[in-house]
Amino acid sequence: MAAYGGHELDSCAMTASRDNEERPARRPRVFSGTQPTGALHLGNYLGAMRNYVALQETHDCIYCVVDLHAITIRQPRAELKRNTIETANMFLAAGVDPERSIVIVQSHVPQHTELAWILNTVAYMGELRRMTQFKDKTGGVEGESVSVGLFDYPVLMAADILLYRADAVPVGEDQKQHVELTRDLAERFNNAFGKTFVVPAPIIPPEGARIMGLDDPTKKMSKSAGSAYNYIALTDSPDEIRRKIKRAVTDSGTEVRPGDDKPALTNLVAIYGLLAGEAAETIIDRYAGKGYADFKADLAEVTVDALAPFQARMRELADDKGFTLDVLRLGAERAEAIAARTMQKVHERVGLVPRPD
Ligand code: AMP
Ligand code: TRP
Repeated sequence: MAAYGGHELDSCAMTASRDNEERPARRPRVFSGTQPTGALHLGNYLGAMRNYVALQETHDCIYCVVDLHAITIRQPRAELKRNTIETANMFLAAGVDPERSIVIVQSHVPQHTELAWILNTVAYMGELRRMTQFKDKTGGVEGESVSVGLFDYPVLMAADILLYRADAVPVGEDQKQHVELTRDLAERFNNAFGKTFVVPAPIIPPEGARIMGLDDPTKKMSKSAGSAYNYIALTDSPDEIRRKIKRAVTDSGTEVRPGDDKPALTNLVAIYGLLAGEAAETIIDRYAGKGYADFKADLAEVTVDALAPFQARMRELADDKGFTLDVLRLGAERAEAIAARTMQKVHERVGLVPRPD
């Protein structure tokens, strides 16, 4: 069984496929989406992107830039376009291999929205109203001017996943509720119309993969944090990285030792360990008797070095726009072939008359 970030993910993925589908034997399928809403940070990289890359060893993966989700919050047109390509580039620069995995932009495969409509007919207002992300985004006041798109966001997400009959969905803790809704909609549809969808299982990274803010280690690193000193963007220059780590808050005391009473050091040692591929004990031993300043100076260099190949690849991709477009063209073709098969089955189950040839 493949160990994955401390999880035995194959057990849940395999159960999902065995329970669900009479599909020919092949590797279980993964689907995940990322919104193109701005520069990704070290938390996204360590918590999500590296897992996308690792999963390619054991799964057939589809990674999607979810532009139609992004527009549930108004996006300036030029920024949305730039961020969409940049998010695809980030998948590739992090190590998603377009020969092995499918990389797509959501709006390029029209079946996502088509299936969302059909799932709308089985989803309940009440269950969507209970989604915590919806409640957060509306500030709990659901009124006349909350868009239908924001309300319907989780149904589109369910369509993304069910369209490809994904077995497993790697997401952060915050998206777990949406994957549970996806499971409910899949089961409800299957019960009403006959077995059609695979009921997917979420893959949530272990607690250690939660990277905290540099300026406040009690909250997770986030691009929507008030200060740029909260996060290291994957596109930060070496000098910016050094400056941010130097400014990162530390705990009282002088010893480099993680612990419940030392949230800042715990986070910094975790980042060091994940980036350098070293155990916390090794790091603690190395800095025994030395102060925070030495540790932070080295952490800055570890971070700069770890991000250097990623950043070099991002620059190459930015210079070769045709490459990304080729990946997205091929991805859309491969994805659409799978999506069309699912939709044919869905139409038949629901009783929609096939378009005459
Ligand atoms: P978001 O940027 O919040 O849409 O998140 C994109 C992906 O990165 C999700 O899978 C998140 O769970 C993950 N992620 C975001 N922030 C962090 C963090 N601070 N630590 C670990 N993973 C994160
Ligand atoms: N809602 C997810 C987020 O904000 C993005 C997303 C859209 C997604 N569709 C998905 C994630 C399908 C996993 C699977 O992070």
